[in-house]
Amino acid sequence: MQDNLNKYLTEIEFLHQQQLYRKPITYIPISATKVIKDDEEYLMMASNNYLGLTHHPEVKKAAINAIEKYGTGSGGSRLISGSHILFSKLEQALAEFKSTEKALVFNTGYVANVGTISALTSSNDYIISDELNHASIIDGCRLSKAKTLIYAHKNMADLENILKKLPYSNTKLIVTDSVFSMDGDIASLDEIAYLAHKYNALTMVDDAHATGVLGKGHGSVEHFHLQGKIDIQLGTLSKALASEGGFVAGKKILIEYLINKARSYIFSTALTPADIASSLAALSLITNDNSLVDKLYDNISYVQDLLQQNNINMKLMTPIVPIIVHSNEKALQIAKKLYEKHIILSAIRPPTVPQNQSRLRLTISASHTKNDLKFVITELAKLLF
Ligand SMILES: Cc1ncc(COP(=O)(O)O)c(C=O)c1O
Repeated sequence: MQDNLNKYLTEIEFLHQQQLYRKPITYIPISATKVIKDDEEYLMMASNNYLGLTHHPEVKKAAINAIEKYGTGSGGSRLISGSHILFSKLEQALAEFKSTEKALVFNTGYVANVGTISALTSSNDYIISDELNHASIIDGCRLSKAKTLIYAHKNMADLENILKKLPYSNTKLIVTDSVFSMDGDIASLDEIAYLAHKYNALTMVDDAHATGVLGKGHGSVEHFHLQGKIDIQLGTLSKALASEGGFVAGKKILIEYLINKARSYIFSTALTPADIASSLAALSLITNDNSLVDKLYDNISYVQDLLQQNNINMKLMTPIVPIIVHSNEKALQIAKKLYEKHIILSAIRPPTVPQNQSRLRLTISASHTKNDLKFVITELAKLLF
């Protein structure tokens, strides 16, 4: 091994020692909740496919038709040649879905956060960010020239303390996950909107785990009845919307600004017709039929009852169920034992969560059967106590 690669080897060895080493595992997905691995079937409890739409016949058909009609790739970035016809349909549908003037599609939720935050703020500005915000928000803050200030998780007194010390007329952007990805709890968006108004700040909410889930699927702004009061609603097409991509919805002026300034939007090849067509189909299913979201909530309340019956003390607010076991080793051990029972559930460790907060993250889908859910919670409880 070359000497100048040794430091990477040392770091990988360190990750192994700390039980922090990671690698992707390949599966064959056969339905929204089942995968095949080594010729055996496993129950998927780690996916963000909250409404199970990845395998919905209409969503699949839309992607296949789009390939037949428009081809496989987009061939260029959005501002050069990649803005195929489906983009304008999806962006209009997203703006209506989120009750905003306009929407803009990015290639992933990750680059939507990075591009939007870094474009909207500059050196005399401030970003005020919840301490448990997603890595893509953190990376957006790192890329921005603004000063980033962190408030304690969901602590509105701390947020106000920070805001009141900042110059009233400078640009201030408060940014938060709405549903926190690793905890499943919900930001106090109504109080954030109130404080933003009081201290002249802009608001940005990341609805990656709220779209298709909160507010009859429309997201956190509808959930809190804050239409018109949150400046930027960010979302992803990759979770409940069963495809790939991210988006931002807000006032026309902000979208126009992002089109011209967000580097992750400008300098990357646009998503494929199949990506956009499947998102459009999923969005239309959620918009026209409440039963999918209702089914998800029915499953959430079923799991809530099962947790109680099995003495796992936890109040669920969303489909994300965090079982905090603290040590990396214990999280890995439980995930391994569940895998032996043909259940896939991820062991989440730092840096995804803070030190000593390692956990099993279980996610509920509308497509899980009651039998699936009962089996998982019963097996999990056996390993916890
Ligand atoms: C809160 C949050 N924001 C943004 C993202 C990034 O979205 P995407 O996976 O579409 O890049 C994620 C992904 O896990 C997330 O949990």
